[in-house]
Amino acid sequence: MMSKPKGKQANNKNKEKLTLAEQADKFDCYQKSVQEPEHEIDIFDQVYRETYKRKPIKLREDFCGTFSVCCAWAESDSKRLAWGVDLCEETLQWGNENNLSKLKANAAKRVKVLQQDVRESNTPQADVLAAQNFSFWIFKTREEVVEYFKAAHANLAADGVIVMDMMGGRDCYDSDIVDKRTIVKGKKGFKYRWEQASFNPVNSHCTFYIHFKFADGSKIKKAFQYDWRFWTIPEVREMLLEAGFKDTVVYWEEDDDDDEDEDAIWSQVNEAPNDYSWLSYVVGIK
Ligand SMILES: C[S@@+](CC[C@H](N)C(=O)[O-])C[C@H]1O[C@@H](n2cnc3c(N)ncnc32)[C@H](O)[C@@H]1O
Repeated sequence: MMSKPKGKQANNKNKEKLTLAEQADKFDCYQKSVQEPEHEIDIFDQVYRETYKRKPIKLREDFCGTFSVCCAWAESDSKRLAWGVDLCEETLQWGNENNLSKLKANAAKRVKVLQQDVRESNTPQADVLAAQNFSFWIFKTREEVVEYFKAAHANLAADGVIVMDMMGGRDCYDSDIVDKRTIVKGKKGFKYRWEQASFNPVNSHCTFYIHFKFADGSKIKKAFQYDWRFWTIPEVREMLLEAGFKDTVVYWEEDDDDDEDEDAIWSQVNEAPNDYSWLSYVVGIK
C-alpha cells in the first residue's frame, strides 16, 4: 500500500500488447496472496469469547488498507458494525470500489471508513480493535508504539481487546531471502514473492517487499514496500501494559503437521517451540 508498481504506463499501448503485469491490479493480487478475512474473524471471535464469554459486535480495523476484514465482519452477522482506519486514499478508494461495493446494502451500511492516522480516537468504542499484518511495526520507537496503544485503549469499550499478529523466528531475520508461493485464484495464476530485503541488528529496522510475477514472465517489482522495526512479543506485551491494558495473552498455532486440510487451531500459550519461522497473535485485554 506504500509504493507503486514499477514499469511503463499502459496508456499508450494496445490492450493486446500489454503484459500480464501491466493488466494486473496490485491490490487484487495482494488480497489473493496475503489476506484471509474469514480466518481473522475466527480468531477475533475466539479471543473475545475466551476473554469475555460472548460474541463481539463492534470492530475497529486499524491500518485497514482495502478493509476486506471490515467487510467480512459486517457480512458475518447482521448486528455487526465495523470502522476501518487508514491514511492512504488510493487504498481506501480501491476498497470502496472492489470490496464495499460487493456487499449487500444491509451489510455495506454497517461499514464506515475513515482516512486518518490510527492514533486518532474518534470512532465509537469497539469490542475488538485489530491491527493486522504487522502494521504497527511502522512505529519504530517505544514512545510511538505506546502512544498508539494508548489511543487503541481509548478506542476500545470497557470489555475490549486489541488483537495483533506477529511474526518471528530466526529465518525472519535473514536478509536477501525471498519466500515464493504460487497463487491460483480465478482464471489467471501468478507468483507471490515476499522479500526480506534487509535487517539491521543495531536498531532492528528492516525492509520487506512484495513482488508479483506472471505467466508471461512480466513482474510487478516492489508492488508494496514495508520499512518497519522488528518488534518481539515480550516488547509488545510490555508496551501494552505500559499503555494501560490490564493483561496480555499470546495465541500460538497448534502443531498441524498430521492434517494440513484441517483448520488451524490456536491456543493461549506461555511457552512455544523455537521454530525457524512462526506467526502468532498478541492480545491486549482492556
Ligand atoms: C501492511 S498494510 C496492512 C493492510 C491490511 N491491514 C492487511 O492486513 O493486509 C499497512 C497499512 O497501514 C496504513 N498506514 C500506515 N501508517 C498509518 C497510520 N499512521 N495511520 C493509518 N494508517 C496507516 C498504510 O496506508 C497501509 O494501508
